[in-house]
Amino acid sequence: MSKLIFRRRSIRKFKDEPLPDEAISQILKAAMAAPSANNVKAWHFVVITKRELLDQLAEIHPYGKMLKEAAAAILVCGNTQKQSVTGYLYMDCAAATQNILLEATSLDIGSVWLGVFPREARMLEISNFLKIPETILPVSLVALGYPAEQKPINNPWQAEAIHYNKW
Ligand SMILES: Cc1cc2nc3c(=O)[nH]c(=O)nc-3n(C[C@H](O)[C@H](O)[C@H](O)COP(=O)(O)O)c2cc1C
Repeated sequence: MSKLIFRRRSIRKFKDEPLPDEAISQILKAAMAAPSANNVKAWHFVVITKRELLDQLAEIHPYGKMLKEAAAAILVCGNTQKQSVTGYLYMDCAAATQNILLEATSLDIGSVWLGVFPREARMLEISNFLKIPETILPVSLVALGYPAEQKPINNPWQAEAIHYNKW
């Protein structure tokens, strides 16, 4: 498992090749296996595969130009009617997003997390575009596709970020 974590990198160049439905299902299943506060699992996943929609999302998201090449994208959203503590909703969705990235990596599918929350204008624009109900908060967008770039293994070690027992 840890090999997978270190292999995951943000991929922003994709081959012009669709993803099999089974791969998308497997990625969604991994998302739903994420930890969830009170185990309410108040997430929703909008899977976008239509070329026209992906191209338009690339225009809407200021740092999402790679969506023009992506085979698919998943918008991870939280349902405020199921989880009223929005802080928890965002954390659950972040955990689900990370699972999406890791499962994609395990399938040799490239992925990149595109921030949506907490950029309010971006959240609104994406919600309007994809007809997301008002009670559903869009949290993150993941671009997916077979990679057309290779990146070295992630090898981080930040000694300054570690504190034993006391700060
Ligand atoms: C909350 C969040 C928002 C991000 N938003 C974007 C984005 O809008 N566009 C993008 O290209 N990458 C985005 N990224 C990816 C980061 O740039 C990337 O994870 C970071 O540069 C480290 O590279 P790595 O993922 O290859 O380890 C985002 C990552 C996170 C966690």
